[in-house]
Amino acid sequence: MKLRSIELEVPDRESAVRFFRDTWGLLEAGERNGVSYLRGTEDIPYVVSVAQASEPAVAAITFSGSKAELARIRRRAAAAGAPLSPLSGFDEPGGGSGYLVQGPEGHVFRFVTERKRVKKLRPDRDRPLQVTHVVLNARDREACTRFAVEVLGFRLSDRTGFMNFVRCDRVHHAIAYAQSDNSMLNHIAFEMTDIDAVMRGIGRMRDAGIATFWGPGRHGPGNNVFAYFVAPFGAAVEYTSEVQRVGSSYRTGKSEDWKWPPNRNDHWGVSARNADAISRGPSGTSASGRSPPDALFPLKAWGSRPGAWSPATTRRARWSS
Ligand SMILES: [Fe+2]
Repeated sequence: MKLRSIELEVPDRESAVRFFRDTWGLLEAGERNGVSYLRGTEDIPYVVSVAQASEPAVAAITFSGSKAELARIRRRAAAAGAPLSPLSGFDEPGGGSGYLVQGPEGHVFRFVTERKRVKKLRPDRDRPLQVTHVVLNARDREACTRFAVEVLGFRLSDRTGFMNFVRCDRVHHAIAYAQSDNSMLNHIAFEMTDIDAVMRGIGRMRDAGIATFWGPGRHGPGNNVFAYFVAPFGAAVEYTSEVQRVGSSYRTGKSEDWKWPPNRNDHWGVSARNADAISRGPSGTSASGRSPPDALFPLKAWGSRPGAWSPATTRRARWSS
């Protein structure tokens, strides 16, 4: 199982695509039915899709897996009463088929078996390789984590004072849940080739008039280098590199394992502390007084997204966590 892409909806698709292509470094991978697809340099058909909509939203977070993996999740989701909806032969780069499943707080996950991958491009320090994790705000991160572990079959890598990190392959986390008063997007992380590529990205963003709101630094859980920004369309995005790869012997960390000394919030100790900006709810303000970027990016119910794919049927089962 592998995190493949995130499907976004924004009020101004053209400007979001321009940002991802001209500043962030993604490559256009096509457009159909009013949806733009962008890729990185890895062999994944696309990593971000952008559709026009009246409100910004995450339509889905997509994983690719084997038929057996998808069948297992589907069985568990049905048994758990999670809303589930089939997809067949959707018209997207990579093709394939699969289904949507909804987590306890309305987070929408899409699982697909791809028909084909695309040719891997030469790694480029000015372009992301792929999306490597998505962090979601959660009112009840423990319930969301149970769903990820028991229904989706993910593994808990680490738990800190306010975040739970889960993985679906050897990458330390594909999803993390940040304790919050809402269930919206927290941020999307794009993997870069190395630290140099992260630093070059910081420079490219600065040229575009967008400063980091946290970073550069090196995280505790995942040990990855990070730099966070607010994209012009309102979402928090991260350049990251050197994300830790872990195996089945990895010991799940507890919050006591991830305590920083005073005035530290990363390994390097040089990053300005503004973590609140990506972990507070819509009514909160960050330590710097800025509005938190996640306030601009609510997750909304799936099934309302127009375009290439839409759920054929909806099982409105009551979810109990
Ligand atoms: Fe991150």
